[in-house]
Amino acid sequence: MTTSGLNGVTAGTSRISTVGQAGVGLTYRGYSITDLALDSTFEEVAYLLIYGKLPNQAQLDAYKKKLSRLRSLPDALKTLLEALPASTHPMDVLRTGTSLLGTLEAEGENGRTAATVGDRLTASFGSMLAYWYRFQQRNERIETESDEDTVAGHFLSLMSGRPTDSTKRDALDTTLVLYAEHEFNASTFTARVITSTLSDTYSAIVGAIGALRGPLHGGANEAAMELVSSFDSPQDAEKSLIHMLEARRLIMGFGHRVYKNGDPRSPIVKDIAKKLSEVAGNTSYYEISERIETVMMREKGMFPNLDFYAATAYHMCGIPTAMFTPVFVIARTCGWIAHVIEQRSDNKLIRPLSDYTGPEPREFVKIGERG
Ligand code: COA
Repeated sequence: MTTSGLNGVTAGTSRISTVGQAGVGLTYRGYSITDLALDSTFEEVAYLLIYGKLPNQAQLDAYKKKLSRLRSLPDALKTLLEALPASTHPMDVLRTGTSLLGTLEAEGENGRTAATVGDRLTASFGSMLAYWYRFQQRNERIETESDEDTVAGHFLSLMSGRPTDSTKRDALDTTLVLYAEHEFNASTFTARVITSTLSDTYSAIVGAIGALRGPLHGGANEAAMELVSSFDSPQDAEKSLIHMLEARRLIMGFGHRVYKNGDPRSPIVKDIAKKLSEVAGNTSYYEISERIETVMMREKGMFPNLDFYAATAYHMCGIPTAMFTPVFVIARTCGWIAHVIEQRSDNKLIRPLSDYTGPEPREFVKIGERG
């Protein structure tokens, strides 16, 4: 029996996270997402996912120092970033940057493992994005070092060229925790499929970035911002949304393959979006978003997913819309790496079957005899 989009199909076992299981909810290695979002930091979560356990204070300090040391970009990578067209989508910047780094710092050389490649990418993605962005936007060749000791702070300070606002940095940090891992979603499954052929970690991450780019997956946070910002007011949003639903249009940032009664990450990111909007004294996108949420619940019984309020939160952090999904990549790389390591630990080639629906067997006609 075939299942469209593998809906409801269990495609393997994993010890990394639970998603949507009754009575358990979303956990990373057994820890609830609410506890992690409220009381831990992204670096603790990255360590937990990649190395399998929560770090103690000394381990966390050492890990943060390690990530800080891994931020710089090789000259060849800077040259490549400068050569990319200004119209390049930043997801393609990351995809291409990862691919080049995989040739300059290949896995297996100098003791590099999936874990250390994961650390390197997690640490340097912010540098890649900001280097490319500042070169294209302001014709600047920036230093990719910063005084910030967190992944969130480093990204924000490099992007803006100014010291980081602690409210925005902490808000971004919490969203990175929320985005870090989510079981067998499309990009993670892509990474596992690539890994299952005994390919290298960079290839798995390049494939995962490609899968995350689409608006049905990670690209939804960018698409949600386009939706929210297209309305002048909550009233305008409500009126237009009714028309969109009548036309059977997809409303980006709503719906989920697994969560049918609400995404546990959504209330946390909604709260962040609200606080950032209030601090900025600009609640218009937040109010429009709330109205969209109300209409979607009333008309379709649908809940927002993480991407919906992440859009307003990132906008209020001053992050350009095209960088929303790349920020998701920064967060999710540690989750992908955890799955690469797990897949390798008990590998079996992932190779399903399909039900054939093409033509019946027929006689081959040589080129000169075809009409
Ligand atoms: N807006 C409007 N209607 C939606 C919808 C949305 N965002 N998401 C699902 N639906 C509708 C579908 O059109 C379908 O209606 P139908 O039964 O009348 O045909 C029904 O709800 C079931 O949806 P389905 O496409 O079968 O769900 P799925 O599990 O295959 O898809 C998503 C899940 C996430 C791909 C889908 O909800 C979606 O496209 N959401 C928008 C993109 C998004 O936010 N992605 C990020 C996910 S974290």
